[in-house]
Amino acid sequence: MINVTMSFLPPLAEYTKYLESIWERCHLTNHGPLVFELEERLKEYFGVKHVFLMTNGTVALQIAIRAADLKGEVITTPFSYVATTSSLVWERCKPVFADIDETTFCISPAEIRKNITSETTGILATHVYGYPCPVDEIEKIAAEYNLKVIYDAAHGFGCRYQGKSLASYGDISMVSFHATKLFHTIEGGALFTNKDDLAHKISHMRNFGHNGPEDFWEVGINGKSSEFQAAMGLAVFPYLDNIISSRKERSDQYREELKSTSIRIPNVPAGLEFNYGYFPVFFSKESDLLAVKTALNAYQVYPRRYFYPSLNTVNYVEPQSCPVSEELSSRALCLPLYPDLKPAEVKMICRIIRETMDRL
Ligand SMILES: Cc1ncc(COP(=O)(O)O)c(C=O)c1O
Repeated sequence: MINVTMSFLPPLAEYTKYLESIWERCHLTNHGPLVFELEERLKEYFGVKHVFLMTNGTVALQIAIRAADLKGEVITTPFSYVATTSSLVWERCKPVFADIDETTFCISPAEIRKNITSETTGILATHVYGYPCPVDEIEKIAAEYNLKVIYDAAHGFGCRYQGKSLASYGDISMVSFHATKLFHTIEGGALFTNKDDLAHKISHMRNFGHNGPEDFWEVGINGKSSEFQAAMGLAVFPYLDNIISSRKERSDQYREELKSTSIRIPNVPAGLEFNYGYFPVFFSKESDLLAVKTALNAYQVYPRRYFYPSLNTVNYVEPQSCPVSEELSSRALCLPLYPDLKPAEVKMICRIIRETMDRL
């Protein structure tokens, strides 16, 4: 069976070495030394002043929304994973969907402008597949209307744009370290910010609002990461370059094998050092996608419809029209991509795709 992804596991002995140190200290969670060590490594790797490891990316997003004091209307993208929208709704904000740009797959600045009202407090945008949002234009809009910007950079680990890590843009960025991501802590995520005031809020909010053992600064939640999660991150860290380069090799192979088809394969955007976290392809119509998906499934190959459905259509938001996102999400498919995927498997997947397309 070939799934859309397979988690990377470091050699067991390297994880065990960290576990032995946990056993020695009997410090399992609550800001232990491994969490601290991983946060320091992440700060250096991302070049961002403050990094807060969290138990997952979704709680991290919710804390970011609270820390940035978003309320009322928040302009967001319809083309993302559901956690982007659901976090806003969970935090009692109203998601207002600005349609995406069909070349970047990210939120369109012109559509953001159209949707700003007196109730708008911020923008929550996703660097979808690790492709950058138009960060400079978004920054300009935010300054003009005094809006906070949170980036869902769940897919952005290892991406650098215009010479800076993708997580260094906006007021706060969230990166997911879920087991399916190219860098992971089993479950996990982190918030990144260069702003001291936001960092102060985030650090208290992820720890129940504690300000010392018997004092509380404000309301908080439990967003802490454990030593076991941090241990996995530390054990995966040395393999990052290999993980990214083997993903690039598989992506290049897909591109070559599929170039004779009518499938649209997006190019890596200019100015982006890419992480090859996903291999999205776009069919010319949804029926082609469905035929290819069925054919692959018959060989036990399971690509994923990332991102489908368009989030402006989920049943708990007010219906809003986003034709570009609805159209693209009906035709987008992510093909299997992970370091252990064999070149022969990529070849077989592409052969099935080509043969199916030829029959359509
Ligand atoms: C765009 C996006 N946002 C948020 C999340 C949520 O992250 P987590 O699974 O770490 O809670 C994901 C997870 O896959 C995602 O793809």
